[in-house]
Amino acid sequence: MTRDDAPDDDTERLLLAAAHQAIAYRTALPAHQRAEAGYAACVAAFDDPLPEEGEAAPDVLAALVARAEPGLHAATGPRFFGWVIGNSHPVGVAADWLTAAWGQNTANHFAAPAAAAAETVAARWLLEVLRLPAESSVGFVTGATMASFVALAAARGEVLARAGWDVEAQGLFGAPPVRVLIGEEAHASVFSALQYLGFGKASLIRVPADAQGVMEPDAFAERLARDVPEGAPLIVVTQAGHIHSGATDAHERIVPLAHARGGWVHVDGAFGLWARACPTRAPLANGVEGADSWATDGHKWLQTPFDCGYAIVRNAGAHRRAMTIAASYLPPVSEHERDPSHYVPELSRRARGFATWALLRHFGRTGIAAMVERHCAQARRLADLLAQEPGVMVLNEVVLNQVAVRFGGAADEGAGDALTRATLAAVQEEGTCFAAGASWRGRWILRLSVIGGSTTDDDIRLSAQAIIHAWRRVASAAGAL
Ligand SMILES: Cc1ncc(COP(=O)(O)O)c(C=O)c1O
Repeated sequence: MTRDDAPDDDTERLLLAAAHQAIAYRTALPAHQRAEAGYAACVAAFDDPLPEEGEAAPDVLAALVARAEPGLHAATGPRFFGWVIGNSHPVGVAADWLTAAWGQNTANHFAAPAAAAAETVAARWLLEVLRLPAESSVGFVTGATMASFVALAAARGEVLARAGWDVEAQGLFGAPPVRVLIGEEAHASVFSALQYLGFGKASLIRVPADAQGVMEPDAFAERLARDVPEGAPLIVVTQAGHIHSGATDAHERIVPLAHARGGWVHVDGAFGLWARACPTRAPLANGVEGADSWATDGHKWLQTPFDCGYAIVRNAGAHRRAMTIAASYLPPVSEHERDPSHYVPELSRRARGFATWALLRHFGRTGIAAMVERHCAQARRLADLLAQEPGVMVLNEVVLNQVAVRFGGAADEGAGDALTRATLAAVQEEGTCFAAGASWRGRWILRLSVIGGSTTDDDIRLSAQAIIHAWRRVASAAGAL
């Protein structure tokens, strides 16, 4: 007997063992939020010689767990505020286990009817919950970076088509120049997506941002008038949810101005677009629905496991033209069918629709609204608790779920950077909660992103205490107070 035709009870034992490992991991309260082992230690742990002979499945599983677990951050835990990371909700994990076990190649509706159908329905639900135009098409991609890439490919094709140029057929060489306006504090991933599409960073028209990192609408209007010739193909990239402040561009002003010049507006709303799902926060993103395309993530506020993002495009024809893959061996699609691969760059791909469908069904519209509301209130509370402490400053207006914190009070820039970095290191070392750092407007910050599905008010209180104690230790060692 070879390993490939192992009897069913072996399969059952293996998958149950994996499930038990996963359950043990998810139900144990993490003692420490940061991974015990860093990258070099993890490489050393994994770095055995390539085996000549295969190893029995249970041994492989045990070896994987032993090597991986020390290098796992508690990203699924309630006090993990690093980067902008959802919790991989158990319902999404369960759906993803089945996705892997079912092994469907979700390229098209014939190869994977159930997976394609789940995407079709999940796409409709996403448009409803985010209150975006019902005629839009949705591509299920790896994350917001690829979502922006896909949507901006559709934008590029459409604005060039309006200028009489077929970029899908003719390519970019010799095409009329496309003007791209973007806020100077747009997320790094959008600059990358533009770069993949031939819009090099130096070619972009950058619009100055205000203290919250959003585009100054007057500066936007001025750049548009000054730098974009009448009739030139135009793409405008806006943001719903700035990575540090959570702030959203003034879409009610920007979108009409861009449209009046025949432009396409793309919104990077990796997490901030979900404000639209919450009645009390939705006004922050007023006017976003007037845009032409949107990028957002499932693996942030919807809590799907990685990787999962959505490219949403109002003009479904432009979306398909930018992405469609056709070959004789691939089945044709009729008007009432939808092939997932027609909306994304990949052909073979996993069935992201299952986890999305499962989580939308599990939370429901009101559950998502309540979660977004809770996280925003918790972020506000965290900011208030921290700001009460002498020497701690919250730099952003906490309108959503992001809190940007600076330590050192009136210390000069360099000293404040050093104190902030030291406090960040102390917070990570102590381990009650996890935060990450960033440089924002020339100053180092500790950034807290409240987005994990399981975070309670108690977690917020404990985390604020831990951060304040870390700061006090740093401050007293540095004689800063
Ligand atoms: C505002 C914003 N845009 C884009 C991205 C990129 O998203 P992803 O990592 O899912 O590609 C992020 C990630 O945090 C983000 O916060």
